[in-house]
Amino acid sequence: MAAEKKWWKEGIVYQIYPRSFNDTSGNGIGDLRGIIEKLDYIKSIGVDIIWLNPIYKSPNDDNGYDISDYQNIMSEFGTMADFDELLYGMHNRGLKLIMDLVVNHSSDEHEWFQQSKSSRDNEYRDYYHWWPAEKGTPPKRWSYFDVNSDAWKYDEQTDSYYLHYFSQKQPDLKWENPKLRSEIYKMMAFWFEKGIDGFRMDVIPFISKDTSYPELPADAQPEDFVAFYANGPKLHNYLREMNDRVLSQYDVMTVGEAPGIAVDHALDFVDEDRKELNMFFHFDLMTLDRDPDELFTMNKDGWKLSEFKKIHTKWDKAFANKGWGSMFLSNHDFPRSVSRWGNDDPEFWRNSATLLQTFLLTMRGTPYFYYGDEIGMTNIRFNSIEEYRDINTINKYKQLQNQGKDFDAFIENEKDAARDNARTPMQWDESTFAGFSTTKPWISVNQNYKSGVTVKAQEDDKYSVLNYFRKMCAIRKSNEALIYGEYKLIDETNEQVYAYTRSLEDDCFLILLNFSTDSVIYTLPSDINYNAAKLIVSNDRIKDDKTYKEFLLLPYQAIVYKLL
Ligand code: GLC
Repeated sequence: MAAEKKWWKEGIVYQIYPRSFNDTSGNGIGDLRGIIEKLDYIKSIGVDIIWLNPIYKSPNDDNGYDISDYQNIMSEFGTMADFDELLYGMHNRGLKLIMDLVVNHSSDEHEWFQQSKSSRDNEYRDYYHWWPAEKGTPPKRWSYFDVNSDAWKYDEQTDSYYLHYFSQKQPDLKWENPKLRSEIYKMMAFWFEKGIDGFRMDVIPFISKDTSYPELPADAQPEDFVAFYANGPKLHNYLREMNDRVLSQYDVMTVGEAPGIAVDHALDFVDEDRKELNMFFHFDLMTLDRDPDELFTMNKDGWKLSEFKKIHTKWDKAFANKGWGSMFLSNHDFPRSVSRWGNDDPEFWRNSATLLQTFLLTMRGTPYFYYGDEIGMTNIRFNSIEEYRDINTINKYKQLQNQGKDFDAFIENEKDAARDNARTPMQWDESTFAGFSTTKPWISVNQNYKSGVTVKAQEDDKYSVLNYFRKMCAIRKSNEALIYGEYKLIDETNEQVYAYTRSLEDDCFLILLNFSTDSVIYTLPSDINYNAAKLIVSNDRIKDDKTYKEFLLLPYQAIVYKLL
């Protein structure tokens, strides 16, 4: 049975990292007016929903994921009037807006934290997690960005430690306090009343904590902590309460970022009857090429296509009858998709970028693209630590320095793994700084803007990555089977070709994706019944074989057929 129809199942999402999208104020940092200026472009590529990374007031320890005022705009990005104009401009063009909701933690510069740390009996004390020093050292908690990976920070003022799963400037909010929860729901309603269409919820499974702060096994690894953080005792009570008090009052979409959530818990979040969230991003794919013992070490090319298929097939199945999936290959926390899952060698770049687009646009689940994916932007691969801006890379480097460890290997790894790979300025044209800004941008521009990786260069080229993206978006939107249809994997073990069908009622599409640098003659198993195959789209030239059983696939070729 096909899923119930919803706008957020049919929409294609385009994620914008505002800092890197378009600078109109001339300070080297993208801004809201920069997005306004590009709305016609965004509309023209065929996406429907824009997800903006945080634009709230922030000291930018973690580029906006450390919020000091949830109801104001970051000064570098503009003003609330700019925001209102942006939202109006989107709605006017039929585009929806989803914002980032970052409520596992705030900035330490938020008024709540300033109050909370001022004294033990301050009325905001219980908005954060404190451990009084007279109880001794708190039980070990691991932190993502801390130089010592220590999630407790001692604060002299009240002789206590506070908890921060991320940086020291991102203290964790205490959801166990109902007053805090009410403040958050009020803030969410403020944005919904303005008319936004939903939230992407930052590390949402982390919000519930066991406030007895139990000791964890002494040999716990980062991934054990992540799993512990993501499965707090009251998580689903809070999500249901949030749904009841705010989300249910509006026609909006929600997508949680869900590190640490395994597939067998998927429906706990998105089963419609539970009234929690609509979708979430799982992390199974994002850890596929990571070293299992070292969460942050990239094992480039250390993944197999059969595993890639297995992950997507498993997650598709989880939502086959209930809930709904979300499909993504990259975002602001991971390297560029074409460099990671495709091949950014000039010989294979175009085909692999368009193959990945074909993949996301022919799978079940809402597809999420990251700005620049539509033109095939690639990893920048910085050579030295001075070029990095991300606290994650910088603090890990400092940690290695403190431990006297080898950081050359780390820098080498970061070329493939670092988040900054995906945060370089959008490449608009071939003018200085790729048309992103008139001044030196906050982070370097990828030099391949000089060789065709720009919107301008690709606009008029019929065969460009950009125009393929446009075509593919239109194909998805005009074929319901590609949205709601059943997904069936054809050949699990093939390490070069990912083949599957999508079918709904009388329509059946066959998708063939050659994930390899070889030309492959792919033979379909005989149990797939059809008389002919009508070509819908291909990212390369095609040799039609009238038997419709053997298909020649060029390196990274993607072909979609309709089976008749
Ligand atoms: C999420 C965000 C990431 C941020 C972290 C802390 O993982 O996507 O960018 O650094 O949460 O807020």
